[in-house]
Amino acid sequence: MLLKVLAVLLSYVIGNFSTSIIVSKLWAGIDIRKYGSGNAGATNVLRTLGMKAGLVTFIGDALKAILAVWIGRRLGGEGTALICGIAVVIGHNWPAFLGFKGGKGIASSIGVGLSVNPIIAIICIIVGILIIAKTKYVSLGSVVAICLLPILLLFVGFKFFLFGLALALMAIYRHKENISRLLKGTESKLGQKSRIK
Ligand code: G3P
Repeated sequence: MLLKVLAVLLSYVIGNFSTSIIVSKLWAGIDIRKYGSGNAGATNVLRTLGMKAGLVTFIGDALKAILAVWIGRRLGGEGTALICGIAVVIGHNWPAFLGFKGGKGIASSIGVGLSVNPIIAIICIIVGILIIAKTKYVSLGSVVAICLLPILLLFVGFKFFLFGLALALMAIYRHKENISRLLKGTESKLGQKSRIK
């Protein structure tokens, strides 16, 4: 039991390592949360610092999530791995060590999803990419893709559905401003830059 609790706490702490904040500091000496959409995530790094920095951020946030699920699986089995997956995204979205001002959890959720059920995660990623390619709205593609996750996971088992639902609800909550901008038609599109470098 102690090991399982430790794995979950560790996952939350791992989530606090915000790649976007580290990358933006090292790349340009800035705090990404003060630029663009203000989000500590790969999309905002892409829009502010360009493709390479955005990609590094995406990979870093996905890898930390893969690490958390791996730790959960090693220390407590599949059930703990699912809870660790949720904990790492909570740590990313609401990082205690960074004043609770984190990201929206999409790259981390992708890492978690790939670790838990790669086939379903890839289907969701493809749907997300197609929506982004068609509409140029990263937020729309992200939200639709993550909402698809619990629906598909329902076919795997109820506990997987609950896990997917938790990730989807967090993503919807963190995208509430994006959703309101999408409805008003004021959401920024992929390619619209607030470049400082
Ligand atoms: O994953 C975040 C993305 O869906 C939206 O990011 O910076 O446009 O709010 P942003």
